[in-house]
Amino acid sequence: MKAERRRNYYEKTVRPIVDHEKMQYTKKLIQHGDVSVFAHSMAVAAYSVKLAKKLGIRYDRRSLIRGAMLHDFFLYDWHKINNVGDGLHGFAHPNTASKNAVRYFDLNKRELDIIRKHMWPLTITKLPKYRESWLVCAADKYCSLLETFGLNTYNDDTFVKKPAREHETRRKIKTINIPQKK
Ligand SMILES: [Fe+2]
Ligand SMILES: [Fe+2]
Repeated sequence: MKAERRRNYYEKTVRPIVDHEKMQYTKKLIQHGDVSVFAHSMAVAAYSVKLAKKLGIRYDRRSLIRGAMLHDFFLYDWHKINNVGDGLHGFAHPNTASKNAVRYFDLNKRELDIIRKHMWPLTITKLPKYRESWLVCAADKYCSLLETFGLNTYNDDTFVKKPAREHETRRKIKTINIPQKK
């Protein structure tokens, strides 16, 4: 049951974003060091959940994960293009990412706030509004530091653990033998 719940959660929350062609494209874009934007985004999602659990606070898990996965959805190589029209990458990319994200996904107000405010305090006037936004804001800085100093242990596949497919689960269930009393 637990595995099935995990699979349903993955199908509804993670897979539509991970499998999206534009999200897959972020594997080709470098964030820090040799870490792709994809790996960075998945790591920020995982560390945001970890931090929330550590703090023992209430949070909207779906919004936290979706917002974190899309927080750097700016879709260009910031090492080559540092000024994107709206200003320097560091200041402008939360806006670009949120515009891209609403173009391809249906986002709620928490998810949008996470994306738009994650660069605080650099974007000093964009103070995170929800606890989910604060969690991503902190996890993003932590992951960025790890990546910049080459201390990260993750790559594109680390946090994309696809649960067993349905037929595999069924096969497992079939192999359980219940001794029959005669
Ligand atoms: Fe960012
Ligand atoms: Fe980031």
